[in-house]
Amino acid sequence: MTRAAITAVGHYLPEERLTNADLEKMVDTSDEWIRTRTGIRERRILRDKDKATSFMATEAAKSLIEKSGLDPSEIDAIILATVTPDMFFPATACLVQDAIGADRAWGFDLSAACSGFLFALSTGASLIESGRHQKVVVIGADKMSTITDYTDRTTCILFGDGAAAVLLEPNEDGYGLLDSLERCDGSQKDLLCMVGGGSLNPPTHETVDKKMHYLHQEGRHVFRYAVQGMADAAADIMERNGLSGDDVRYLVPHQANLRIIDATANRMGITTEKVMLNIERYGNTTAATIPLCLADWESQLRQGDNLILAAFGGGFTWGAAYLKWAYDGKQ
Ligand code: ACO
Repeated sequence: MTRAAITAVGHYLPEERLTNADLEKMVDTSDEWIRTRTGIRERRILRDKDKATSFMATEAAKSLIEKSGLDPSEIDAIILATVTPDMFFPATACLVQDAIGADRAWGFDLSAACSGFLFALSTGASLIESGRHQKVVVIGADKMSTITDYTDRTTCILFGDGAAAVLLEPNEDGYGLLDSLERCDGSQKDLLCMVGGGSLNPPTHETVDKKMHYLHQEGRHVFRYAVQGMADAAADIMERNGLSGDDVRYLVPHQANLRIIDATANRMGITTEKVMLNIERYGNTTAATIPLCLADWESQLRQGDNLILAAFGGGFTWGAAYLKWAYDGKQ
């Protein structure tokens, strides 16, 4: 049976760091509150106004191409998960396609907030499993600083900018994406959303004055759903694949809050050293968190490692994936 395996990873992070100390000067908060409630110490910010999500996604794709020796002309499709596209259309995936010279590829953006990479991975894997495509690039990229209200202490401490990309190729040896589980629930749309700018509330002076172009989150309520959604999804996918905590090499969780990640790991019966964590350094980069973890841990990954990916985000959207890693990372 043909599986879709990740065969290369690339990433991009802006240089500029926004630390908790910086935020203490901007809103009524403290380093101690942020660290204990979220696990975040700093995040990366792409300050340059001329550089948007496509820039970071392109840099991530270029780093993947450079590391893997991939010829961009061989890429069949680019799926880009984001809630901060450069513009509504053309899709940011098209801008990346042009920038990297993927002259045979088609591509599209996928909007599923923090579950975006997981959903894009599953979609890309289907293109490989069906035999239609040989090389699919899946990217998670978000410039969250452009939809974050830096006067709102309940959200501005959470988010950062970043991008990461993976290459999917067919594998006949049992490695790759073995199972995935995806869910959404639009009934909770008001708890985590950005209501301005779309066809419901097109941009006007009023929408700007009412701050409708910023992300809005009812954090306490979202927290409750996120703990349950992410832990349930991870536990379900383990159960239906007969996996115990001992079988899992790493949990690769969406990085929204350390306490949500801890609850998921507990439910899976795994200890902290089996959890990929970079929330401390990057905060919540929305669609980029999971592939950024893969990029950070790539050198430690070994062929055959069992990974459980899990995410929860606006929509609500959530899910999990069971991946058997396909190659030994270079030390
Ligand atoms: N500094 C100091 N105090 C703060 C801050 C801050 N930055 N932010 C909120 N507070 C205060 C609140 O006003 C509140 O005060 P009160 O009790 O006097 O009313 C108190 O701290 C507690 O607030 P809570 O909202 O209950 O804090 P909580 O422990 O829930 O942490 C957080 C907030 C971090 C946002 C948490 O709820 C969370 O992580 N939620 C889930 C986030 C998530 O998973 N989102 C999904 C993915 S994101 C996406 O899809 C784009």
